[in-house]
Amino acid sequence: MIGMLGISMGAAPAGPHVHITGANGFIGRAVANRLRAEGCEVSGSDLRASGDEDVAALDLRERAAVIRHIAALAPDIVIHAGAISGAMLAADDPALMFDVNVTGTLNLAEAMRLAGVPRLVFLSSNAVYAPAPTRAPVPESAPLGAADAYGASKLAAEAVLRSYAESQGIATIALRVSSVFGPGRVTPYLVSQTLEAIRAGEPLTVTDERSNMRQFVHVDDVVEAVWRAVEADLPGFTPINITGGTYLSEEAIVRLLAGEPPRVPITVIGERGREDDGHVGPLDIARARELLGYEPAVDIAAALGEMAGPIVAGSSPA
Ligand SMILES: NC(=O)c1ccc[n+]([C@@H]2O[C@H](COP(=O)([O-])OP(=O)(O)OC[C@H]3O[C@@H](n4cnc5c(N)ncnc54)[C@H](O)[C@@H]3O)[C@@H](O)[C@H]2O)c1
Repeated sequence: MIGMLGISMGAAPAGPHVHITGANGFIGRAVANRLRAEGCEVSGSDLRASGDEDVAALDLRERAAVIRHIAALAPDIVIHAGAISGAMLAADDPALMFDVNVTGTLNLAEAMRLAGVPRLVFLSSNAVYAPAPTRAPVPESAPLGAADAYGASKLAAEAVLRSYAESQGIATIALRVSSVFGPGRVTPYLVSQTLEAIRAGEPLTVTDERSNMRQFVHVDDVVEAVWRAVEADLPGFTPINITGGTYLSEEAIVRLLAGEPPRVPITVIGERGREDDGHVGPLDIARARELLGYEPAVDIAAALGEMAGPIVAGSSPA
C-alpha cells in the first residue's frame, strides 16, 4: 500500500528514512532500489508521481510545496538527485536550468532547515570545474568555474548547500560525478547515440584522443558511492569526486560499442572543440578512497560491450 506522500506502508524497515528527489530518474531510481535492499525506509519525489516505484509528485520549484512535503516526511537524510541533468537538456532555456537546479536546491535546503533534517547527499558534477588547459588529474581543490549553464547551476547549487552546511549545520556530501552510463539512462549521450546509429546502419564520425576525452562511470558504481556517502556521516560541506577510473577518447568508446570488425564504418577526425566532460582532466578520487572507501568496480569495456551486445550481434531489430 502507498501512503499519500509516497511512503510505503509495508513492514517497518530497520534503517534510516531516506528521501530521494528525482526518484524517477536514472540515478534516483537505481539508488532507491539499493537503499531498499539495504533496509532503509525510502520515500521518493519527482515531477510526476509513480505508484510502482513509490514516488510522490513534487516540483522542486514550488517552495511552499517542498517545505510542506519535507516537513510531513521528516526524513533522516535526503539524497538530492532531482535536476535538469545535463547541458543538452535545457540548452535554450538557462532560466529553467537555474529555476530547477539552483532555486530548487535552495527550496530543498530551506525545507530541510525548517524540518530539522540534518544530512544531505547531493548529486553534483565534474561540470563545476573550470575548463583546464592540461589533462592533469583534478582533485577537489582544483579551480572551480563552469563552462556552461549546467555547470554554473551545479556550482551555484553547491554554493547554496555550502552556506546551509556552514550556517545551519546541514551536513552535506556533494558527489562530483563524471558522465554516468548504464542501462536505464534516458537522457541522450554518446553511448545511446552510437547504439542508435549502429542499429540504423549509419556511419559514425568520432574524435580521437586529441579532442574531448570521456570519463565514464557506471551507474552501479555511482549507487555504491551514494550508499557509502549515506553511511559516512561527515560534518560540514564535503565535495568528493566520483568517477569510473578510465579516461577514454570518443573513438575508443565507440569502437568498444561497435565491435571488431565494426558493424558500421567509423571515420576518425582530430580536434573538434572540447565538449562534455572533456573540459577537464581525469578526476582524482583519492578523497573518495579515503573518506568513503570507494573504488570503481565495474569494468567499463565489459559493460559497454554488454550494452552493445544484442545490437552488434544483429539480434536487435533495426
Ligand atoms: N547522468 C549523468 O551523467 C550525471 C553526471 C553527473 C551528475 N549527475 C547529476 O545526477 C542527478 C541525477 O541525474 P540523472 O542522470 O538521474 O538524470 P535524470 O534526468 O534521469 O533524472 C533527473 C530527475 O529529476 C527530475 N526533475 C526535473 N525537474 C524537476 C523538478 N522541477 N522538480 C522535481 N524533479 C525534477 C526529472 O523528472 C528526472 O526524473 C542530477 O542532479 C544530475 O545533474 C548526472
